[in-house]
Amino acid sequence: MISKGIILAGGTGKRMSPLTKAVNKQLLPIYDKPLIFYPLSILMLSKIRDVLIIVNKGQIGQYKKLIKDGKNLGMKIAYQEQSKPRGLPDAFILGEKFIGNKNVAMILGDNFFYGQGLSENLKRCTKLKSGAKVLLHRVSNPDLFGVAKVNKKNKILKVIEKPKKHISKLAITGLYFFDKNVVKYSKTLKPSKRGELEIVDLLNIYKKKNKLTADYIGRGGAWLDTGSIEDYYKTFSFVHAIENRQGVKIACLEEIALFNKWINKNQIKKQIKFYGNCNYSNYLKKIIKDSL
Ligand code: TTP
Repeated sequence: MISKGIILAGGTGKRMSPLTKAVNKQLLPIYDKPLIFYPLSILMLSKIRDVLIIVNKGQIGQYKKLIKDGKNLGMKIAYQEQSKPRGLPDAFILGEKFIGNKNVAMILGDNFFYGQGLSENLKRCTKLKSGAKVLLHRVSNPDLFGVAKVNKKNKILKVIEKPKKHISKLAITGLYFFDKNVVKYSKTLKPSKRGELEIVDLLNIYKKKNKLTADYIGRGGAWLDTGSIEDYYKTFSFVHAIENRQGVKIACLEEIALFNKWINKNQIKKQIKFYGNCNYSNYLKKIIKDSL
């Protein structure tokens, strides 16, 4: 079982400038909560309790103000700075000590996942023993994404970043599961033309060893990358629509922690005090009442 996870929450967010000039993208709101809550909730739904959040230089304090050390959620949350955006596989070089000799999950801080059956899928992915696994999602414009070609047994045959020629409609989302070799392999990578270590190069190391497999977010699921202004507001509207129509919250961290039996109602009461008088707290009060 994978019990450790990394959230990559640094980056320059230049596509969203000037919004991201003074505030890191992952601290911007997606409707009623900061963006970072959404990837964190995905790790929690995967039953991952030990988390490392990688942030930009000088920003640990801001994140700690919001999420603290995780005890409030029955978790262990540590932080590490990345001095500049060196690419996604840098997470595993920076996280070497955190990872140790364990397998690890990694999620991009600006990726949003939602949908029926997602928790079951995630639990299946955390059973990974060796190799690497990526979550794929069908898209209509595969030329904009990292794309994978897969055989009937869910083995990945080809991985290409922004393919010019059509190979498949399955985009590689920002949630990955790796065995402990990921640190060693990441260290062998060389920066690409754009000066970053590339996740596709890392995945190709596993592919060459015949150890790269796929799982899927099915038709009933949504995956959104909030990196551009358009996609950011699409995600914002999606959360707004679902929450208001159904009266349930997406990515309410305390609700998931309670469901996982990592915290009890008293700890939720403390969180209500921490957040103060707001809609989020009202929802937490409702959770306490409903679970009586
Ligand atoms: P990107 O969307 O590739 O980069 P970005 O967020 O800086 O945005 P832009 O392209 O507009 O400048 O990154 C995906 C996620 O990974 C995002 O949440 C930021 C994070 N990230 C890091 O934390 N460190 C890195 O070295 C890189 C490349 C990304």
